[in-house]
Amino acid sequence: MERTFLAIKPDGVQRGLVGEVIQRFERKGYKLVGMKMMQVPRETAENHYGEHKGKPFFDGLVDYITSAPIVAMAWEGNNVVAAARQIVGATNPQNAAPGTIRGDFAVDIGRNIIHGSDSVESGIRELGIFFKPEELTGWERNVDRWIQE
Ligand code: RTP
Ligand code: MG
Repeated sequence: MERTFLAIKPDGVQRGLVGEVIQRFERKGYKLVGMKMMQVPRETAENHYGEHKGKPFFDGLVDYITSAPIVAMAWEGNNVVAAARQIVGATNPQNAAPGTIRGDFAVDIGRNIIHGSDSVESGIRELGIFFKPEELTGWERNVDRWIQE
């Protein structure tokens, strides 16, 4: 089953949006299989956002992600990577549609509340950065048969 890495960024935690964000994925029908609050070490942030190294916003991005705790999460479900990106919304909240997390709660690209993996491969890579295998919990959910045929 497909998995993605989602993280509520420091601004989302500071603004009291942890429950709101989790609820959107829960009520859609995706399954939470890992979660922890953590202060991200600088080296981990630089590794996670390695594709952006050298870009003008890189240092500010790493400062932002390491500035206060995040909530790191693993979510599971059919097509969850692409679907979560839709629920998250466009990178720049000014372009994010109303109804998306960034569209509803953010105004600035540098304070856009949440991270979501951009591909299945990125999801595997990022989950490996933030979670040990034993920290991910596959579990049977009684309601699964009412969510997926
Ligand atoms: P994320 O990785 O955090 O889920 O965001 P994303 O895929 O939608 O966007 P990405 O291109 O991966 O950019 C990562 C984060 O860097 C910050 N950013 N700032 N000032 C800028 O031009 C700029 N561009 C990107 C954003 O916080 C973005 O989420
Ligand atoms: Mg990205």
